[in-house]
Amino acid sequence: MDYDIAAYGEQRPDYDSMDWALRHDQEEASAFLAGLAPGGSALELGVGTGRVAFPLARRGLKVAGIEGSPTMAAQLEGKRDGESVEVLIGDFADVKVASAVDLIYCISETFFLLPSQESQLRCIRNAAARLTDRGRFVIQATVPDHALFCSTQSTLTRNVGPQGAIVAARRHDRAEQRVEVQNIVIRGRENTFYPMHYRYVWPSELDLMAKLAGLDLVSRSGGWRDEPYTASGSYVAVYGKN
Ligand SMILES: C[S@@+](CC[C@H](N)C(=O)[O-])C[C@H]1O[C@@H](n2cnc3c(N)ncnc32)[C@H](O)[C@@H]1O
Repeated sequence: MDYDIAAYGEQRPDYDSMDWALRHDQEEASAFLAGLAPGGSALELGVGTGRVAFPLARRGLKVAGIEGSPTMAAQLEGKRDGESVEVLIGDFADVKVASAVDLIYCISETFFLLPSQESQLRCIRNAAARLTDRGRFVIQATVPDHALFCSTQSTLTRNVGPQGAIVAARRHDRAEQRVEVQNIVIRGRENTFYPMHYRYVWPSELDLMAKLAGLDLVSRSGGWRDEPYTASGSYVAVYGKN
């Protein structure tokens, strides 16, 4: 399968209005992240429209972001309100930045958008190489749930209302840990499609990739408010150099 880094953003020119697809956790996320590197430097991998990067900059960090989609970067530029968030266009697996960073973070399951184990491991190795000695690498992801799939497919109804519905059709490749998704927004007689592919990673695989990159798990919690980790749903993992 060809991997087009810009495609995700091109298919979502109205990202911030996709309420059903967004996490609404920017204040909790930025408070947690700011606490890991007070007044320091931060880099977001897959910064998108700056949903968390802007509030983090307002908390006094020097924030930059890597983004593969010029369409997403343009949406970020349109939201600027005096905050300084530098955007670098490129593949976040390469983590190309000029100097060492105190905090590198990848949230909203964006890490899963890297298409292969090879690119995911490369990303963590590059992130580790660009962290300061006491720096932190943070991933927000979810524990995969195979029960959602009947055989290798599933259909998930995300939203139902008098004007339409939002349905996700998904195919699962169990060997490659890959899922192909078509999110279909049905409104009246119109359908809008928001496709995506992802490669999920088990928490244990993530820890192993980090270990191979010279990083140890510092903490894993169930959310930004240090909720207990329950081995299901969303979690936040923090890594540091070993
Ligand atoms: C799910 S969105 C999350 C955006 C933002 N982090 C947030 O939490 O709102 C994923 C973002 O990562 C970008 N992206 C996906 N793969 C990428 C890659 N390999 N390199 C750079 N950006 C990528 C997409 O274009 C999109 O902006």
